[in-house]
Amino acid sequence: MSETVELILPALEVPDRETKTAAGVLRVPGTKLPEKRVSVDAALLAELITQAREAARAAHAPHSNFHVGAAVVMADDPDATVFSAANIENSSYGVTVCGERNALFAAASKGFRRVKYLAVSTVDSLTAPLSERSPCGVCRQAVREFTEHDMTVDEALILIDTSEPGVLCDVMDIPRLLPHGFTFAG
Ligand code: THU
Repeated sequence: MSETVELILPALEVPDRETKTAAGVLRVPGTKLPEKRVSVDAALLAELITQAREAARAAHAPHSNFHVGAAVVMADDPDATVFSAANIENSSYGVTVCGERNALFAAASKGFRRVKYLAVSTVDSLTAPLSERSPCGVCRQAVREFTEHDMTVDEALILIDTSEPGVLCDVMDIPRLLPHGFTFAG
């Protein structure tokens, strides 16, 4: 049973600050993000959260014992396939790949290039604050590669699982998770 609702991701307006010093201006960049309105099917978001939770069961996490699952749908996939994956650790710790990137790269490996939804479930920390449930910086940058940088067309949403009673998930997007992410303009 689908249930379409409109979500509003709030505008962010933080001014730049500049302090003059003898060595030059120290600039502290602010952030300017317009409000973003998106229509979502709450039932579909619930399904993606469920799939992310289920994907976490296949995590290979003998080192951290922290299990993460992710489920991704791409905007340019006419079939809206759900690509899910888990974190895969390694004895050589740096080889470890997060659940989000494993799911995202599975989708990208099929040729899709625009994220619509990425659900993440850190099943071992669902009662913890957002910072213990949300994607790491590397994954944020990885997802950013596959989102529109133009705020007026970008509809990609990141869905962050929680076990807070009555709450389905936290909904964010890449500009709000990674305000000054890197772009290689070539
Ligand atoms: N991990 C993820 O899979 N996603 C994140 O966004 C954060 C961390 C994994 C990596 C490692 O296997 C374990 O969680 C502990 O850091």
